[in-house]
Amino acid sequence: MVSSCGNSISIQLLPFWGFLPVFFFHIFVGNTSLDNPSQALLSSWSNGSSTPCNWVGILCNESNSVTHINLGNLGLRGRLDSLNFSSFPNLNTLNVSTNSFYGDIPHQIGELKKLQTIDLAYNKLSGGFPKIIGNLSRLSYLSLAFNNLSGSIPSEISQLTSLLNAQLQNSGFSGSIPREIGKLKNLMFLNLSSNQFSDYIPREIGMLRNLIELDLSQNYISDRIPSTIGNLSNLYSLYLYANNLSGSIPEEVGKLSKLSILQLLQNNLRSLIPVSIGNLTELTNLRLDDNNLSGSIPSSIGT
Ligand SMILES: *[C@@H]1O[C@H](CO)[C@@H](O)[C@H](O)[C@H]1NC(C)=O
Ligand SMILES: *[C@@H]1O[C@H](CO)[C@@H](O)[C@H](O)[C@H]1NC(C)=O
Ligand SMILES: *[C@@H]1O[C@H](CO)[C@@H](O)[C@H](O)[C@H]1NC(C)=O
Ligand SMILES: *[C@@H]1O[C@H](CO)[C@@H](O)[C@H](O)[C@H]1NC(C)=O
Ligand SMILES: *[C@@H]1O[C@H](CO)[C@@H](O)[C@H](O)[C@H]1NC(C)=O
Ligand SMILES: *[C@@H]1O[C@H](CO)[C@@H](O)[C@H](O)[C@H]1NC(C)=O
Ligand SMILES: *[C@@H]1O[C@H](CO)[C@@H](O)[C@H](O)[C@H]1NC(C)=O
Ligand SMILES: *[C@@H]1O[C@H](CO)[C@@H](O)[C@H](O)[C@H]1NC(C)=O
Ligand SMILES: *[C@@H]1O[C@H](CO)[C@@H](O)[C@H](O)[C@H]1NC(C)=O
Ligand SMILES: *[C@@H]1O[C@H](CO)[C@@H](O)[C@H](O)[C@H]1NC(C)=O
Ligand SMILES: *[C@@H]1O[C@H](CO)[C@@H](O)[C@H](O)[C@H]1NC(C)=O
Repeated sequence: MVSSCGNSISIQLLPFWGFLPVFFFHIFVGNTSLDNPSQALLSSWSNGSSTPCNWVGILCNESNSVTHINLGNLGLRGRLDSLNFSSFPNLNTLNVSTNSFYGDIPHQIGELKKLQTIDLAYNKLSGGFPKIIGNLSRLSYLSLAFNNLSGSIPSEISQLTSLLNAQLQNSGFSGSIPREIGKLKNLMFLNLSSNQFSDYIPREIGMLRNLIELDLSQNYISDRIPSTIGNLSNLYSLYLYANNLSGSIPEEVGKLSKLSILQLLQNNLRSLIPVSIGNLTELTNLRLDDNNLSGSIPSSIGT
């Protein structure tokens, strides 16, 4: 085990073959898990004479154009705008999760037209959701989770028609959930948990026919659960707990024949539990407590 407590290394990476920019990271070696891999990283990156395609965390295509930046969990600290995005026209994956990147998500990310995966989770990024991300028509995975962002999710998100997985929990977002989210026809996983979303769940959510997991828990969402939720015929889990939802549980919930997890606890739901819930034969986890519901839970559940 190499111990490098308290070291602070600053490296300037010089351009090579014209496709890597001045790539400036401050690398603070923390007191935790940075051992051999980080040493390999540092020595491979500080070697300005070798192609970046040999650097730890960088993959290139057969033409030596960078396609993957996988720098998750390496104790990196710095601003993302120190990346010269125009140097990576073939970038497919940008993964810098679980580091200490701070500052805004650079607008230039919208130039990376071939991006399919963006994972910026578990950093200290601030500022808003860049509207320009809507230009990334091939994006299938987007995680901004566990950051210190602010503002609302722009309606431009509707342009991400290839999106399969959106992990936007604990990001700092607020405002309404945009109605345009209904245009993400391929979306399978949506996690907006633990933000400050308010207003209501848009009816358009029912257009996400491929959705498997929907987590809107721990926000400030009011009003009724839209009946269109019953159109999510592939839904496996539905987490709406710890909001300010009112009215009754829509009877259409009974149409979610694949539903296994339904958590509606800690809301202001009233009236009778719909009988249709008895049709949810796959249900294994049901939480309705901490509401003002009455009636019985049909014995057919979970059988
Ligand atoms: C630096 O790059 C040169 C040329 O590619 C290579 O021969 C050398 O082994 C590299 N050194 C390290 C420490 O990676
Ligand atoms: C690899 O990079 C070259 C040079 O930028 C590019 O023209 C080509 O389309 C890329 N190939 C693939 C398979 O991405
Ligand atoms: C990004 O990298 C982290 C750390 O290596 C890894 O756990 C995570 O699964 C990666 N994200 C994606 C979308 O592959
Ligand atoms: C960014 O990279 C492009 C393409 O490699 C280059 O033309 C440009 O000068 C670079 N800009 C900066 C600020 O380094
Ligand atoms: C994003 O898309 C819009 C409209 O399609 C276009 O006008 C704009 O130039 C694009 N921006 C970038 C950075 O590619
Ligand atoms: C989060 O961002 C706000 C400004 O938007 C700032 O005041 C606060 O210190 C940041 N928190 C952390 C933990 O970085
Ligand atoms: C959504 O993110 C939270 C973290 O805030 C996590 O606990 C939860 O399991 C995630 N939901 C799903 C459906 O994966
Ligand atoms: C909760 O919902 C009620 C209506 O059901 C509304 O009057 C109230 O303002 C909401 N509270 C918050 C904190 O949004
Ligand atoms: C979606 O749900 C609503 C309300 O339950 C229903 O009226 C509508 O017909 C459904 N849409 C489709 C396309 O099935
Ligand atoms: C339960 O499902 C059956 C068959 O799919 C249907 O006929 C019935 O109307 C449903 N019951 C409720 C209460 O939704
Ligand atoms: C729950 O609902 C009943 C009947 O609608 C009402 O009388 C009661 O005051 C409600 N309780 C709370 C705590 O809201």
